Amino acid sequence: MKKKTFQKDFLWGGAIAACQAEGGFDQGGRGWSPMDMIEYESGKDAQKINLLDFYTTEKMNEGKDLSNGKFYPKRIGIDFYHNYKEDIKLFAEMGFKVFRTSISWSRIFPLGTEEEPNEEGLQFYDDVINELLKYDIQPLITICHGEIPLGLMEQYRGFYDREVIDHYIKYVKVLFERFGDRVKYWITFNEQNGMTTVTPLAAGVLKDKVDNMFEAGYQAAHNVFVANSLAIKAGKEMIPDAKIGCMIAGFTVYPATCNPNDIMKALTDTQLENYFYGDVMVRGYYPSFIKRYLEKNNIMLNIGENDLELIRQYTSDFLALSYYCSSVTSANAESLELTSGNLMSGGKNPYLQTSDWGWQIDPVGLRYVLNSLYDRYQIPLFIVENGLGYNDELTADEKIHDNYRIDYMTKHLLEVENAIDDGVEIMGYTSWGPIDIISMGTNEMTKRYGFIYVDQDNFGKGSKRRLKKDSFDWYKEVIKTNGKSLNSGK
Ligand code: BG6
Repeated sequence: MKKKTFQKDFLWGGAIAACQAEGGFDQGGRGWSPMDMIEYESGKDAQKINLLDFYTTEKMNEGKDLSNGKFYPKRIGIDFYHNYKEDIKLFAEMGFKVFRTSISWSRIFPLGTEEEPNEEGLQFYDDVINELLKYDIQPLITICHGEIPLGLMEQYRGFYDREVIDHYIKYVKVLFERFGDRVKYWITFNEQNGMTTVTPLAAGVLKDKVDNMFEAGYQAAHNVFVANSLAIKAGKEMIPDAKIGCMIAGFTVYPATCNPNDIMKALTDTQLENYFYGDVMVRGYYPSFIKRYLEKNNIMLNIGENDLELIRQYTSDFLALSYYCSSVTSANAESLELTSGNLMSGGKNPYLQTSDWGWQIDPVGLRYVLNSLYDRYQIPLFIVENGLGYNDELTADEKIHDNYRIDYMTKHLLEVENAIDDGVEIMGYTSWGPIDIISMGTNEMTKRYGFIYVDQDNFGKGSKRRLKKDSFDWYKEVIKTNGKSLNSGK
């Protein structure tokens, strides 16, 4: 029987986030974002940087002092703010069908609390969207990618406080009203399962403002479910032909052994990390395992009168996921050797190699998570992040021979094709950081994901010129042949 492969209208492309690429932090009337306050420290072992250490009132105030002599990479990004035309032209040259970016909330509502949006901010995204459409590239907009306006974190406790739901919906409606005629693909929040794994970052909660971050994470997750459903409700009314998805970081967790206790541990980890979020946002209800988990941990969620009905009624059109690596778990935690990974660390797998940042490279793990999510939800999946962070070397003749990236992506895309052949419905694939951007987790430039090299170092120095890596032409061919070239080993 003929193997099933990428469908004709498969959405190939790339994905970035405003806070890692845009820069222009003080331009166009933009307000502060917490991402502006995370400094780069020279000589620090990148793997040991803990982003969450920066989520304190003290750190935020320190950052506001423009004369403090520290360097804050996300304030300048790769200056996509001024270079977007050149960058989009390169994406078009690769044949992108879709481009995912987020909107910087504080560019639209500088403090988050204003009644009226900032016109200059809206105009910037109008221009970006129109530039994409000029090349027939569909915009896929993430409404909130890890940065609520700092004002909302100071006046409230981020999404731990319900008031922030109202500010989010006010912002969402402004975006739908302004861009809904041209933007048909939306994601309400980046990696919603970060609410409980990296609460300060995902939910915008300053650490000194709450006593119990564990409890705050679950309450914020609930408030974000409500915000998600309200956004879908507004979307159905305002842009009936739009597809509005939710997103999780797709965790693939293997049991360390076939000891039934390890198998059980892998299942409960998967329930807490993946299924809790999918069940609420796709199936529309709190699964029983999470209700028991909350009870056992003495967490009493503050659930509004109509929340559960709203969550039941307004579910996601598609489930988006990021995927970089897998991990191993065990009922006997001490037996595990830990290594880092996206959003959290996990046990090492002797069958896998790791990237230079300790993330375990596992293409089959992608097929695994795609199958497990589709089995459970039966709605289209969209892989909106995947890629390899690598410290690329620029040769004297200004080339970047990134065969390791081509290898990583070929293997992952072949597993995507296998998943399609398994019967999984996949809308598209946007590689992470098709152009080098600032790393979210380690705040450095040297962790590069792009097909396009940006001549810029960890201190923002360099010409910022854009250079094509070897993978540029490789990806162009993958898109041109709708994935057929993957099988030819080219
Ligand atoms: C994802 C985030 O979790 O991982 C991205 O959504 C991030 O913002 C990506 O960039 C890769 O992580 P890092 O730390 O290598 O940039």
